Amino acid sequence: MIEAKSLTKQYGDFTAVDGLSFTVNEGEVLGFLGPNGAGKSTTMKMLSGFLTPSSGTASIQGHDLTGDTLALRRCIGYLPEGAPLYGEMTVRQFLQFVARARSLSGSDAKRSVAQTMQRLNLEPVSSQTIETLSKGYKRRVGLAQAILHDPQVLILDEPTDGLDPNQKHEVRRLIRGMAEDKIIIISTHILEEVEALCSRAMIIAEGRLLVDDTPRGLVRRSRYHNAITLVVDHPQQAASALSELPETARVELKEHELTVFPQPDADLLAAVTGAVDMHRWTVSELRWESGRLDEVFREITGRAQQRGTV
Ligand SMILES: Nc1ncnc2c1ncn2[C@@H]1O[C@H](COP(=O)(O)OP(=O)(O)O)[C@@H](O)[C@H]1O
Ligand SMILES: [Mg+2]
Repeated sequence: MIEAKSLTKQYGDFTAVDGLSFTVNEGEVLGFLGPNGAGKSTTMKMLSGFLTPSSGTASIQGHDLTGDTLALRRCIGYLPEGAPLYGEMTVRQFLQFVARARSLSGSDAKRSVAQTMQRLNLEPVSSQTIETLSKGYKRRVGLAQAILHDPQVLILDEPTDGLDPNQKHEVRRLIRGMAEDKIIIISTHILEEVEALCSRAMIIAEGRLLVDDTPRGLVRRSRYHNAITLVVDHPQQAASALSELPETARVELKEHELTVFPQPDADLLAAVTGAVDMHRWTVSELRWESGRLDEVFREITGRAQQRGTV
């Protein structure tokens, strides 16, 4: 379990992380979501014992940040942002080096290196020096060093940054596969990643926690939750007819898309399809919306900025 209490980091007068408190339990994949400069990396560095908090504390699997940092680091795998690596080493040499640094014995080290390379599909480049690798492979080497000792806690700073869509998919699959018996914290500014990967998301801006919720819970905060968006041949006529329905709260016409927002608990889908049938409009698109995460994100981080609360 991870327990953070009022974690704070100041650089001079500037507060990068401002009193973050949260707990994370086994089996959770927690996403730190926030704009650039929100304090995600700084928080992760503190949790991994690489940066001392200005105030506040955290404990990981019972080890306090300010106590035995060696024991703390043993139970953590950390992928730093940008994943600095030793460019002149080959992939195999680097992972063997990491295994030694993790105090794995000869046979354990060999097995861990082999398994990890297989898991991350690094075998084809095992004899290549790291500086000659593509960005995607470098990121995977970074992940390999983080998971090599099979830690209970994984702290991964933008794990899919710079990867192409196939590689992103692969890395997400890998992370999901490890989630069951671990605690995983990832940071991202990619909203789809939160939905694809996280069981829980914390939206952070300017060092403060704004929202802590499940991805589904976040999406439900969207004003588009349960709205219906459609593209019809007579949008103006449809807009005025649909706005008359008792199930409709409001209609918005943007470019060629018509969005109908429901009254609370109304069966809007039946009402809209009924109206479409009756008026014989030609519908080229119709979607029932679960909600738009990007809108929620902008709403939450923008509102905080406007109020000057962050
Ligand atoms: N060593 C440092 N000295 C001064 N300011 C820093 C330092 N490291 C980070 N910051 C500032 O702290 C804020 C949070 O940074 P960071 O944690 O990297 O954000 P994120 O990872 O969410 O993009 C930023 O405004 C950044 O410029
Ligand atoms: Mg960062």
